[in-house]
Amino acid sequence: MDTFNRAEAGAGGGVAGTYFRHATAPRLDTDAVIYDSIANAHPGVPITTVPEWSCNLRAYAAAGHGMLETVEQAHPPSADSKSDRKHSWPSTLRWTVFLPPTRRLDGGEGIVADEVFFETCTYTWEGFTFLVYFSEGRDGTMPYPQVRNQYILGDEAGARSLVASAGRWQSVLHDEIWVFNQGYWQKDPLLYRSIMKSRWEDVILDDDLKTDLVDTVERFFDSRDVYDGLRVPWKRGVIFYGPPGNGKTISIKATMHTLYKRDPVVPTLYVKSLVGFAPPEYSIESIFRKARQEAPCYLVFEDLDSLVTDQVRSFFLNAVDGLSENEGILMVGSTNHLERLDPGIAKRPSRFDRKYFFPDPDFAQRVRYCHFWQRKLSDNKDVEFPDEICGAAAKITDGFSFAYMQEAFVSALLEIAREKDTAGQNVQREMEDMQEKWELLELEARTETTARDKDLEDYILWRKLKHQIEMLRKELSKEKRGTA
Ligand SMILES: Nc1ncnc2c1ncn2[C@@H]1O[C@H](COP(=O)(O)OP(=O)(O)OP(=O)(O)O)[C@@H](O)[C@H]1O
Ligand SMILES: [Mg+2]
Repeated sequence: MDTFNRAEAGAGGGVAGTYFRHATAPRLDTDAVIYDSIANAHPGVPITTVPEWSCNLRAYAAAGHGMLETVEQAHPPSADSKSDRKHSWPSTLRWTVFLPPTRRLDGGEGIVADEVFFETCTYTWEGFTFLVYFSEGRDGTMPYPQVRNQYILGDEAGARSLVASAGRWQSVLHDEIWVFNQGYWQKDPLLYRSIMKSRWEDVILDDDLKTDLVDTVERFFDSRDVYDGLRVPWKRGVIFYGPPGNGKTISIKATMHTLYKRDPVVPTLYVKSLVGFAPPEYSIESIFRKARQEAPCYLVFEDLDSLVTDQVRSFFLNAVDGLSENEGILMVGSTNHLERLDPGIAKRPSRFDRKYFFPDPDFAQRVRYCHFWQRKLSDNKDVEFPDEICGAAAKITDGFSFAYMQEAFVSALLEIAREKDTAGQNVQREMEDMQEKWELLELEARTETTARDKDLEDYILWRKLKHQIEMLRKELSKEKRGTA
């Protein structure tokens, strides 16, 4: 039997009423008010109060470790103290927010998520059923600090082991990466898997740039003593900038992979967005708190210019400036628009010391990229891919980013796949595997006889590729006109 009374939770509505009444007045110590109201609504039932930052019960349940069910409260109208009219308080307070995808290349159309400010739920975990009140308890008018408490009603020892279990789960990584998104740190196993497949060998960059990038990172984590000896804080920041689709993110991922191979491992903290349930200042605070806790670590800010808005600018700069606190943190920020970045970030070496430009690929790099696809498709019997296509495709893709070139290959191959029946299915499978595999197959010495005997136009891959490139060229010039 549950130690709390479901009927009381559902029918009384006292706690929800208190929350809403309290929210309409200047708020001071919401926690105490809510606690008092819960204690009165459920006399004698033990209450375990857990701040969400220490142990996020909702996230723990979402990861499949517990079950949450909202309790709809049916409350009788009560007298509104101000106007004396009858008033019904709602049983939950939530926002429905739209969270757009961070990058077009990641696919998806964004998601609609709920941000909960007040809610009553049952929480089932390991044979226990608790009643949990979730209550956002921001006091006063300042946007932070944000307090979100979870009031667990039910067996006290059970509640404590739930907190221990959810807290432990929250703080430990298992083949996951810490990702900051929607306002809190989440562990992302998919990103981890994709990082384990990202390798520097697959990134086509100017050789000097690549060597410098790899060395900067390795040297940083090897040089604590050197920094100490020079009496300069052991922290560094770099910026990757340039037009979309030229390897900023894959370079970050390749770096992450090398850092996970080090002994001891250097973890990455990956910031996708500051938008979340709390104001962005709170996000920045949580991000740096975690980075300091995990240091030495690699702290990644994707799309820096959209993260650091005017609203959070000074807060962000202050956090970055923290000298001794930020010891052991190597920060990297990526942006398409260096010119849009605050000068405090872009032009102050002590914050982000070095900038690396990722330009559209030149002819030689485009040829290399085509060879990369040639290798990928080398065991595909349905697609003939002679060397000539590499040079020819590189010639007509001047001004293309790698991502555009990728798009040309993907679309061409998909078209071929559509046109072929059984053979096409193989290509389709190849396409689906492609992103997953990400493996460089040894370049086989190819006999050029087939190529010489045939005209380029005889190859379906070339015909489709050329067509796709022409279409993308139009798209590209429209885009360029749009931004000019
Ligand atoms: N230098 C490169 N070498 C090999 N492939 C590349 C390179 N740059 C981009 N690509 C291909 O294009 C895709 C997109 O690249 P990436 O995500 O790294 O671009 P980005 O520079 O981060 O773009 P954005 O500014 O839009 O975030 C990669 O998944 C990869 O397939
Ligand atoms: Mg990117």
